[in-house]
Amino acid sequence: MRIYEDLNAIQVNREAQRSYYIPYDSLEKALDGNKVESKYYKLLNGLWDFAYFSRDIDVPEVITKWDKIPVPSNWQMFGYEAPYYTNVNYPHPVDPPFVPDDNPCGIYSVNFNIDKKWAEKDAYIVFEGVNSCLYLYVNDKFVGSSQGSHLQSEFNITKYVIEGNNKLTVKVLKWCLGSYLEDQDFFRLSGIFRDVYLLSRESGSRPNIEIKVENNAISVSEKDYVIYEGKNKIEMIDNPILWNAEKPFLYTVVVKNGNEYIPFKVGIRDVCVSDKGELLINGTSVKLKGVNRHETHPTLGHYTPYADMKAELLKMKELNINCIRTSHYPPTPEFLNLCDEIGFYVVDETDVEIHGFVSRNTSYKYDIENLDWICNQKQWENAFVERVQRMVERDKNHSCVIMWSMGNESGYGSNHDAMIEWTKGRDSSRLVHYEGASLVDDKSSVDVVSRMYTSPAGIEEFAKNSDMRPFFLCEYSHAMGNGPGDASDYWKKIYQYPKLIGGCVWEWADHAVLVDGTYKYGGDFGEVTHDGNFCCDGMVFADRTYKAGSLEVKAVYQYISTKIIGNKLTVTNLYDFTNLNEYKLLWKVGCDGKAIKTGELNCDIKPHMDKEYILEYALPSSCKLGCYLDVSLEGEYQVAMEQHSLDIDIEKETSDLETFANFTDEKEIIKITGDNFNYIFNKHYGNFESIIVDEHERLADVAKLTVWRAPTDNDRNIKYKWGLFEDNRSGENFNRIFSKVYSCELKENKIIVSGSLCGISRSPFLRFTTSFTVSDKGVIEIELEGKVKESCVYLPRLGFEFEIPKTNEKFKYYGMGPFENYMDMCHHTRIGMYESSPKEEYVPYIVPQEHGNHTKTKELCIGGLKFESEGFEFNVSNYTSEVLTNAKHTNELIENDNTIVRIDYKNSGIGSNSCGPELLDEYRLKEKDISFKFSIS
Ligand code: GAL
Ligand code: MG
Repeated sequence: MRIYEDLNAIQVNREAQRSYYIPYDSLEKALDGNKVESKYYKLLNGLWDFAYFSRDIDVPEVITKWDKIPVPSNWQMFGYEAPYYTNVNYPHPVDPPFVPDDNPCGIYSVNFNIDKKWAEKDAYIVFEGVNSCLYLYVNDKFVGSSQGSHLQSEFNITKYVIEGNNKLTVKVLKWCLGSYLEDQDFFRLSGIFRDVYLLSRESGSRPNIEIKVENNAISVSEKDYVIYEGKNKIEMIDNPILWNAEKPFLYTVVVKNGNEYIPFKVGIRDVCVSDKGELLINGTSVKLKGVNRHETHPTLGHYTPYADMKAELLKMKELNINCIRTSHYPPTPEFLNLCDEIGFYVVDETDVEIHGFVSRNTSYKYDIENLDWICNQKQWENAFVERVQRMVERDKNHSCVIMWSMGNESGYGSNHDAMIEWTKGRDSSRLVHYEGASLVDDKSSVDVVSRMYTSPAGIEEFAKNSDMRPFFLCEYSHAMGNGPGDASDYWKKIYQYPKLIGGCVWEWADHAVLVDGTYKYGGDFGEVTHDGNFCCDGMVFADRTYKAGSLEVKAVYQYISTKIIGNKLTVTNLYDFTNLNEYKLLWKVGCDGKAIKTGELNCDIKPHMDKEYILEYALPSSCKLGCYLDVSLEGEYQVAMEQHSLDIDIEKETSDLETFANFTDEKEIIKITGDNFNYIFNKHYGNFESIIVDEHERLADVAKLTVWRAPTDNDRNIKYKWGLFEDNRSGENFNRIFSKVYSCELKENKIIVSGSLCGISRSPFLRFTTSFTVSDKGVIEIELEGKVKESCVYLPRLGFEFEIPKTNEKFKYYGMGPFENYMDMCHHTRIGMYESSPKEEYVPYIVPQEHGNHTKTKELCIGGLKFESEGFEFNVSNYTSEVLTNAKHTNELIENDNTIVRIDYKNSGIGSNSCGPELLDEYRLKEKDISFKFSIS
């Protein structure tokens, strides 16, 4: 057995875990909290010497050739091996505790200076995160070892250092027995990926300081401390200002330890559960509007610099997120300081996932009754329990942490019971979470019932059952690619039932590696086993820019809801601790895309309350397109918005098609002419092939009826029923369709086409009649009546595709915008008059896919054509759905010679079936009788 496979040697000489803090040499500095100013703190991050060996046994006694590598970082991001993405499967055999004999190894070395003052005191070194294990040497002497990649390792190096120059050497192995506990769904990356620093400490003193908040009072494990409010010392906290995620008020406790001043930011808050199963923060029922967050960076791997973390948290705030599950390991400790300050409820998760046990045999099974699951094995108990202990001890002083999570997807066994028991005994002020308790029917003593990807109907069943523990969706609304589409369906239920305390969208950001301007994912690095782009499932892109799904979640999570009846607006405050008077409520009544009345309200509405307001506006007696009330809540930025359709008569265009254009029926075509136009109708294909207005050709190809959309990630299952892919048996083959014209006749100024659409090798799935008329002014009216085959799967979409001469000009539309939207993913958009261009419509999903749809459109003006109807969906793109279907990366996209305009009857919704439930019925284009009418002028 090799030392790194020895369960009795998971650490050597590592210090017992203490709470996270930085000691300062003065009170002022402690209160400022800028740790680099502390004389007792020395950050060792920087460019270190590095030598990589593909087998640890090849490391020579003396290394003569050094490269340089930045610390923190992961060596795979700097050309030593390649990133490796696998989800469930272990990237090595499942034969615990043994790991591959050829164990890659990185030797890190750096020099540091110890001055006289430091030499007089104790010196410690802290590693915040090293994957997978480290062996530490100071001045060539072995100090100790540690594993637990996302946990802290601290060593006392007092007796190894000398005044002056010292040499630090760290040997890091790619694998160790701890790798079995770290089978999280992410790029598998090695190295020193979090801060490394030295601390100069009071001799013989390294207290595990504990700050407790009970009954609205702060108590401190040490005798010598002072509490500050800002920079003012306070003797007694009489009327404490409480902490919550909306108003994260923090006191500062400074503990005096010898010459050390040790600051802690402390929020006074209380977490408990009501007898209805609600989550109470300071006695108020709070819904967790959460997201799962991994540490991932497109060029740095698992290292996320402080500024990036902060920017990321501010974005979460902007998206109305109030809760973060630190999936699936404790974050770098400074992250929790930021969560205390910026205000988030945190579910802090232990660095344990053994998911790959489900696939250690050829079936994919949670056969946890088997004793070869290491969660059942006594000899592994300490390895499990010490991970939760290290997390709890490190993070216990953070107000933001409201739940301790025992890890992720690790089956359920006696080692879980031991973890839960220890945690409950150590800290009863927070809730204990473990989703794996579902495997034992939640019979374990977790405090919350937790599930992932249960459907909206499924969570309702939990809401109604007799278990009075809160129900939490630790993962839902799988945000992969274009999506998620179902967030709002979940929240209708969550608001309805007290016991449903909310959940965390899976997940925050795409994990991807930026190579030469293109985002890469699993399989791009020659991995032996991988899970493709399953890592690209963030609600924001890898660079943290927003997509429609980000804004959709923001809209669903927003903290107001409004209702209008007549002129009476009811505003409900969904904040838990914020009066709406801190914001401005703006309203606007728009008619046919133009504002006719605007107003501003200051809503003095307490949390969870509502109020009514009479809005002074008058509507015209009728309008052409529609009248809407737009409401938005504005602070430093827009925090919420809603739109309501107002009751008004819509003028019907009297289609006086008494006077028609001139039709000339020829062999293959019908010529249609009038004053300034010349159209050609292709009888063979049953549609227009040329539309010339004022001598300008508006079409670049024959128009056609299509149903295909480039499958989204959320279509990854249904796409096999839709299209022809690897198997040729299960799909309707919509991506290989034949359009059949049975007849095309010109009758009384009307062209009537009878036809069908049919996938290769299948029977027709759509039989239709389309009629076309053209007025003397050149207005084309198209009417489609169709019947879908009874046995046919729901359609991706259905509509007419027009190729028009390539344009990058702006176009205009009246419909849902300005962002792409689908029938279920539309809460982030509003009906209005918008401008866009084909370029702006493109959305750079890491794996190219369907995007750019707009629902509820009444008018689209593009390329000299105006499409109109009572309601259609449209899409404008420079890419064909075929190119989007075939491309695997954005750099494989080739622009079409023409611009493609889709005028759709409907486009199915988005959902979150990449991992979540199937698309809800109401969002499927599943009707068998189709009628669709629109005009072109
Ligand atoms: C869950 C898991 C996550 C992630 C997700 C799929 O089962 O907990 O880590 O793998 O599925 O993206
Ligand atoms: Mg997993």
